[in-house]
Amino acid sequence: NKTANQMLVIFGASGDLTARKLVPALFNLYKAKQLPENFVVLGVSRSNMTDGEFRRKVVQESTYLKDKVKDASSDFINTFADKFFYEDLGEDYNKVYNKLATRISDLNNKFSTGENYIFYLSTPPSLYEVIAKNLSEQGLNNETNGWKRIIVEKPFGYSLETAKKLNIGLQTYFNESQIYRIDHYLGKETVQNLLVTRFSNSIFEPLWNRNYIHHIEITNAESVGVEKRGGYYDKSGALRDMFQNHLLQIVSLIVMEPPIDASAQEIRNEKVKALKSLRIMRDEETLYNNTVRGQYLASVIDGKKVKGYREEEGVDPNSKTETYAAIKFFVDNWRWKDVPFYVRTAKRMPTKVTEVVIHFKSPHHQVFKNSDMNNKDNQLIIRIQPDEGILIKFGVKVPGQGFTVERANLDFYYSNLADNNVMDAYERLLLDAMQGDATLYARADEVEAAWEFVDPILDYWKNGSDVNIYGYSSGVWGPTNSDRLLEGDLKWRNPGE
Ligand code: BG6
Repeated sequence: NKTANQMLVIFGASGDLTARKLVPALFNLYKAKQLPENFVVLGVSRSNMTDGEFRRKVVQESTYLKDKVKDASSDFINTFADKFFYEDLGEDYNKVYNKLATRISDLNNKFSTGENYIFYLSTPPSLYEVIAKNLSEQGLNNETNGWKRIIVEKPFGYSLETAKKLNIGLQTYFNESQIYRIDHYLGKETVQNLLVTRFSNSIFEPLWNRNYIHHIEITNAESVGVEKRGGYYDKSGALRDMFQNHLLQIVSLIVMEPPIDASAQEIRNEKVKALKSLRIMRDEETLYNNTVRGQYLASVIDGKKVKGYREEEGVDPNSKTETYAAIKFFVDNWRWKDVPFYVRTAKRMPTKVTEVVIHFKSPHHQVFKNSDMNNKDNQLIIRIQPDEGILIKFGVKVPGQGFTVERANLDFYYSNLADNNVMDAYERLLLDAMQGDATLYARADEVEAAWEFVDPILDYWKNGSDVNIYGYSSGVWGPTNSDRLLEGDLKWRNPGE
């Protein structure tokens, strides 16, 4: 166990994320004996709570932990709960943190956490710099004794400019090596497996370029709407909420060159290069031809009426915020020149699925005339979620006279592995941060390169002269208008259809 004794200080601890994601992840780590011997969680927020109330809220009475604790003894659960403490910051995050610093120091002395602290900022981004500054004023960024790390949640900025400001703000008080920007998609086993598929096999990488790949398609669909997050979502939209971060992270792993080794530094260097090679779309015509946005409408699904986006709580009834985004783009480098990438993300789709499809070119010369493959391509489908796995579609001979060719599937599912104890994304990412491994966290330059690509699209959607937002019924694969992005007779691959 490489994890040093430490304290996890969670800002915004009374919020949903702590109970929904962080505590269940910590519980799994506790069950798997992955937490260090001396480990303390200090929840910090503006609610008035005692340690006991905090423990009950996030552990004993938490609905999010219910399934996980059902086979555990109450002793086992209480020993876990005893690691949690709470500090009320009063009404404001921007205040002198001397009381908080004293509490941290007392807990450190009592539980021997070696002055190793992680500050997890599960607060609105407007507070990141404020909190970093106040921590530094108490010397809580100082690594003379013990290390100090800061984890920040998304959204990391609202635009390139605000992301840069945030980076400068954090880097004024913490070194880049102390800053961990979370992107929970990088915590997903199947997203990490993109690296392994590409770089530990010799059968894919030789084909992984413009000579053999026709186009690449990424679909991220959710069946849910915006649920209770209308207030946040209406200021964000699909492009900021999913595309700028999660999907461009996936893109960078597909596009990147092989790293020299698997270190955080080398992998992230290659990812930045990949993101910087995305062709930025600047003029209105290009932006019109390569982007489509949509918004879900009220519909009836399985006999049940579902609300349209504009009727959701917290959403402006005239909102132009997109719940569907489809972007076509190119990557300007040696490997990818002229290969179109089609990426779409949306809410209220027919199903929840994320997948990457590598479409290969047809053979140069068609030998078998009577072939189903003549208008179908070889595909490598990487299923990120659910039914995590990899599928290859290729041509086989139909038994019998002559050469009739049909497309067959070769598949691998994670669930078939004997040891398929897939870690939840937050569990994996928290453990990495606890061990000081930043490979699966986004670096400042990565985040900025992603914004650089996204900014002109957002600007066009906001201020462009000929830009529409298309309505689509809930439960369909988005507006039919998105078909105009596809070259030739290509069609979107709608999983399950
Ligand atoms: C979050 C977005 O980052 O990712 C949500 O804010 C979205 O809107 C969620 O629902 C999707 O995550 P997952 O892991 O369920 O695909």
